[in-house]
Amino acid sequence: MGNERTEGVITRGTTHPNRLRRIDRWLIACHGEVLTKGAEPPVVVDLGYGASGVTSAEWHARLRAVRPNVEVVGLEIDPARVEAALPYAREGLSFARGGFEVPLQGRSARVIRAINVLRQYGEDEVAPAWESMQRRLDPDGLLIEGTCSELGRLGSWVVLDRERPLTLTLSWRLRDLTEQSLPPSIVAERLPKVLIHRNVSGEPIHALLADLDQAWAHASAIAPFGPRQRMIAAVEALAQDWPIRGGAKRWRLGEVSVDWRAVAPVGQRA
Ligand SMILES: C[S@@+](CC[C@H](N)C(=O)[O-])C[C@H]1O[C@@H](n2cnc3c(N)ncnc32)[C@H](O)[C@@H]1O
Repeated sequence: MGNERTEGVITRGTTHPNRLRRIDRWLIACHGEVLTKGAEPPVVVDLGYGASGVTSAEWHARLRAVRPNVEVVGLEIDPARVEAALPYAREGLSFARGGFEVPLQGRSARVIRAINVLRQYGEDEVAPAWESMQRRLDPDGLLIEGTCSELGRLGSWVVLDRERPLTLTLSWRLRDLTEQSLPPSIVAERLPKVLIHRNVSGEPIHALLADLDQAWAHASAIAPFGPRQRMIAAVEALAQDWPIRGGAKRWRLGEVSVDWRAVAPVGQRA
């Protein structure tokens, strides 16, 4: 560990209590089995937790409800933020300095959560960062990498295993769409770094968001039943042309997952 170079640079440390609640809820609902597998306590890493340890502490509480002996390690590239997080440390929750090399003293990670970290890097830095983090996953491990708004009400994330990206998930607080008359494509503002510059004609993510906006508009007749029913109707229509994952239970929460192969940037299709 001592000889490893810290990979990455210090960036803005903005965070907020409950900011990552939607991502945590999705992980437990859609990939909960990775947390409960195996006799050894799994190690999960909150990479780039920011100016305080609050989201790591929340993750620890949420995951311990599912796997009581899970070990959460918060890693930050900024040593001052490691110091700042120490008051949050408790049994099964520790903080240390580290970057994309994910130093874990010889252990590997079941889950790495890196949210709002790559946003401040260049698009060409995504693939090496993903590869570096993927190398640190155990055979059942998952990397969750994405971006969200300050309060976490709008966001998106990619989930990867050791080999490849699996899905992209888009997430909205549905009331915001109806109360502010916003189209679902507003999520383009909070796409993961790998896609944020790709919301242009000719790219699959652009086509997906355009189709979703159209389906949402067509579902306006259902608006009196509320935004949840409207989103279910819109995603049912979208699923005729796109490999959408999950079902109405997720869609009504404002959460839509699609196979990565359908939205991978042109030139990066697996
Ligand atoms: C905007 S904050 C995100 C905080 C938290 N994850 C959230 O979403 O609220 C980004 C943090 O990532 C840290 N960071 C940037 N690159 C990193 C890297 N390669 N390894 C670890 N931390 C990194 C920055 O120092 C910063 O504190």
